Amino acid sequence: MQWTPEHAQWPEQHFDITSTTRSPAHKVEAYRGHLQRTYQYAWANDDISALTASNLLKKYAEKYSGILEGPADRPVLSSYSDAPSGLVNGRKNDGEPWQPPLASDAVYPLSCVPEVLAAGKAGLRAPTSAGHAADEQLKGAEPHLLDLVSSEIIAQGPPLDWADIAGLDLVKAVLKEEVLWPVLRSDAFSGLTASPRSILLFGPRGTGKTLLGRCLAGQLGATFFKIAGSGLVAKWLGEAEKIIHASFLVARCRQPAVIFVSDIDVLLSAQVSEEHSPVSRMRTEFLMQLDTVLTSAEDQIVVICATSKPEEIDESLRRYFMKRLLIPLPDSTARHQMIVQLLSQHNYCLSDKEFALLVQRTEGFSGLDVAHLCQEAAVGPLHAMPATDLSAIMPGQLRPVTYQDFENAFCKIQPSISQKELDMYVEWNKMFGCSQ
Ligand SMILES: Nc1ncnc2c1ncn2[C@@H]1O[C@H](COP(=O)(O)OP(=O)(O)OP(=O)(O)O)[C@@H](O)[C@H]1O
Ligand SMILES: [Mg+2]
Repeated sequence: MQWTPEHAQWPEQHFDITSTTRSPAHKVEAYRGHLQRTYQYAWANDDISALTASNLLKKYAEKYSGILEGPADRPVLSSYSDAPSGLVNGRKNDGEPWQPPLASDAVYPLSCVPEVLAAGKAGLRAPTSAGHAADEQLKGAEPHLLDLVSSEIIAQGPPLDWADIAGLDLVKAVLKEEVLWPVLRSDAFSGLTASPRSILLFGPRGTGKTLLGRCLAGQLGATFFKIAGSGLVAKWLGEAEKIIHASFLVARCRQPAVIFVSDIDVLLSAQVSEEHSPVSRMRTEFLMQLDTVLTSAEDQIVVICATSKPEEIDESLRRYFMKRLLIPLPDSTARHQMIVQLLSQHNYCLSDKEFALLVQRTEGFSGLDVAHLCQEAAVGPLHAMPATDLSAIMPGQLRPVTYQDFENAFCKIQPSISQKELDMYVEWNKMFGCSQ
């Protein structure tokens, strides 16, 4: 959307700081709340760029600074204007480098608990009472577990924009309308319209489930916790239960947070039999934590679970997921977008007709299959060079990628999902899914 003169009015409408505000501390709190909501509103509504939002907020911060009495109040204000972390940084394409909600060097050296607490409090939101309790519990947590959460579970990296994920328009719309907005505007969405805190993304492997989780976290300005269900079992079985506990604990201190659990079937499979086995303890811990998230009205934590085997989830546990969304194979438009995007960094020579053929021939491919196919085709020009010339070749000297390279790639890369599996997802979606 374009910036228009009407936008000049929204800060005034949202900055209703009046003389009825009682104490300086109260004023600061009120100011913070208004600042945050205004910021979030404009950013989420895509009305203005991050830079414009930031400039406007600075302008209004100056204007309203007069009502804030006492030197002790000022640092609170300047911490917002100096470090508009989270949401603004969560926007892409505004010419500003993205930073995670907390600067990466603020991601704690976890042997030091006070720093952990400080980092947790540096987020946009004021800590909730559950957040305070989590802060306290964090003091007693095992440092090596916190270290592990910091290094292996909290994902760093640039945020994704919705446009970075090809296709999946329906799912993106649901996530924006039913999760993103209600979290950003929790003041407006409450009761029955409150955000679903637990979502199951199911569908074939390599279709963008993880990308969606990452994107949602970025758009929320949330810390992204990425737990691999299979990794817990394979790498950390002995400690998996404690790792889950520690991840949720840190998430409570680092709100807003998105906890993404891939291969959730590993934890919630109906096959888990022995009552006190490590997997069963892991499951119990996860469900306990999930339950707390679902019943806490004030915490801003969204749990997104993903699976390519939804049928393995114990049927009594399906109810834990308030939204169950099928992530299907990419349609022709999405495959076209992906191929164009993947080839954009390469020199290629493909006619419109050849593009159309590629889109047609990749029917049944997952996004990951398409990526593999393009990778394989892109190395075609390199394979065509005599080995002796490779050491001296400059990138610009390579011949363009052609349709023949794709012909060769098709011999090696096949769709990885069978029709039988696809039928199963459709059936499961009909029975238990939320998108038809
Ligand atoms: N819709 C998409 N748009 C762009 N790229 C995609 C899309 N779907 C898949 N990809 C490509 O496939 C890769 C894997 O995607 P992702 O990890 O999100 O899949 P997934 O559904 O989580 O798979 P799994 O079930 O194996 O965990 C991405 O890094 C990207 O290259
Ligand atoms: Mg994944």
